[in-house]
Amino acid sequence: MSSKLIAPSILAADFANLQRDIEMVNQSDADWFHIDIMDGVFVPNISFGMPVLQAIAKHAKKTIDVHLMIVDPDRYIKTFANLGSNVLTVHYEACTHLHRTLQAIKAEGMEAGVALNPHTNVNVLEDTINDIDLVCLMSVNPGFGGQSFIENTYNKIAQLKALILRKNAKTRIEIDGGVTNKNAKKLVDTGADVLVAGSYVFKSSNPLETISNLKKIANA
Ligand code: DX5
Ligand code: ZN
Repeated sequence: MSSKLIAPSILAADFANLQRDIEMVNQSDADWFHIDIMDGVFVPNISFGMPVLQAIAKHAKKTIDVHLMIVDPDRYIKTFANLGSNVLTVHYEACTHLHRTLQAIKAEGMEAGVALNPHTNVNVLEDTINDIDLVCLMSVNPGFGGQSFIENTYNKIAQLKALILRKNAKTRIEIDGGVTNKNAKKLVDTGADVLVAGSYVFKSSNPLETISNLKKIANA
């Protein structure tokens, strides 16, 4: 079994001490940087944009996993590739031609991810799953950090895992929102491969230790 990955979400970092928090993640047992881009249209919040990602990428020494919560993401695929994104995730609900979008992401040398809102059934990926490197199951409604985990996510993980196995796909399952030491074990046992954690990591008194514990729990 391959190792389960931890992706701290920079949305919960201290933006006035961004370099310090990035170096912390570099030094930690975390695997990826999770970067949330929000446009104030697809979600009711605006996070940060290209210049901030550029500053992050300058210091980040691990895989950069960009989660686009924006309408019409096709406009910016090339831009995010140039900024150093390794994984680029778009929302199913924001793509009219998802298959084309996935090919465009891969043509830029990135891994292609699709995020599903809590209300979106995993079966909508039946015909694209073999083209998807990562499915990000939203375990909160996207837009804000620090919300509580939606329990129905476990059912969605199980359904998605079954779809992946049935289609013989190589897709990873990422869980985003409300992840803590309390649900990490059950999430990976149900089929999750990547755990995103924002507030739980950055609001803790010792983020390095919190990441290391999550990594241990996820791989126990
Ligand atoms: C929510 C974002 C998440 C968020 C997770 O829209 O996609 O990545 O940062 O934050 P926590 O872990 O605090 O729920
Ligand atoms: Zn996210």
